[in-house]
Amino acid sequence: MNTTSFIPKDLKFLLKDTTVTWKTPSNIALVKYWGKTNPQLPKNTSISFTLSNCHTTTKIIFSKIKKVQQADFELFFEGKKKDDFKPKIATFFERIATYCPYVLEYKMEIHSENSFPHSSGIASSASGMSAIAMCLMSLEKELNPAISEEFFNQKASFLARLGSGSASRSIEGPLVIWGDHPDFDESSDLYGIKFPHYVHSIFDNYQDTILLVDKGEKQVSSTVGHNLMHDHPYAENRFKQANENLSKLSKILQTGNIKEFIKLVESEALTLHAMMLTSDPYFILMKPNTLNIINEIWSYREKTGSNVCFTLDAGANVHMLYPENEKEQIHSFIESKLAQYCQKGQFIHDFAGLGALSI
Ligand code: DP6
Repeated sequence: MNTTSFIPKDLKFLLKDTTVTWKTPSNIALVKYWGKTNPQLPKNTSISFTLSNCHTTTKIIFSKIKKVQQADFELFFEGKKKDDFKPKIATFFERIATYCPYVLEYKMEIHSENSFPHSSGIASSASGMSAIAMCLMSLEKELNPAISEEFFNQKASFLARLGSGSASRSIEGPLVIWGDHPDFDESSDLYGIKFPHYVHSIFDNYQDTILLVDKGEKQVSSTVGHNLMHDHPYAENRFKQANENLSKLSKILQTGNIKEFIKLVESEALTLHAMMLTSDPYFILMKPNTLNIINEIWSYREKTGSNVCFTLDAGANVHMLYPENEKEQIHSFIESKLAQYCQKGQFIHDFAGLGALSI
């Protein structure tokens, strides 16, 4: 599959006005994407659990207009007009205009809301961009009803990726791989694919509690962080390691070797942050409470033999991953020991889910 197959040929611009709504989740990477080239192509393959409770709901009202040169849209976030988000979305529409020429034939009113608290430090770009991509594909499907569900999802992931790399992994679930990898024939740098193998039942409804350590604006954005991988002294080894880790993780997911899962996932999280610590300029996104929580998790595991582990994204919050059968014990551990390290005692219980929903 190459990019030309995403350029539509048989669109009939007959449709007047339409409104579509999608709810798409965030995701949490197990093997991390960190480093990319233009246009939004990853330097290594990544894999993530799609989440359920952390999601964005987006409605787009499309009204037919005469063709314009630049996408004509208004953006509302949680009921209020949000002009500061517009430049990012405008760039997205420019990037996708070749693949979605119809965006220039409609005025778009975009209404978005997140299920998680605003500025919780939870990356909303994955859920936000994937929701817009799904809405565009719904319009495309109305213009060309012949497109298959497979093509719909693949192109949605392709479009979402052009908005934010990790958004390509938020269309389907519960496990999605993005980036070309020799072990997975169907894998691609252009879009995410569902993990194609059997997955051991220990990973069914895998739990993720997000501990909100720091809800402030990040000091260094993901875009800047990705760019710092270009001249990074450890970059090549890191990209190689990530691809090897995916091969290992693929076996772990199939066999249910939870101890190896813990080792690999925690190592990936710390390696991601090690790349930040060793960038030029260097930066630190973890906070003292990020480390306090990690140490608490390690001693809890030591004491109880639990299978809980942690991962991190590009921020200070900690994602605690654990099997469903440990839910009760882990919830009381969080309430009694970990909530004190969270801003205003806040955390969000989530679990692996199946991806985007039309509503
Ligand atoms: C650390 O997808 O937010 O969460 O492509 O620039 O939008 P852009 O970056 P983004 O990067 C996510 C990085 C990560 C790891 C991951 O999700 O794989």
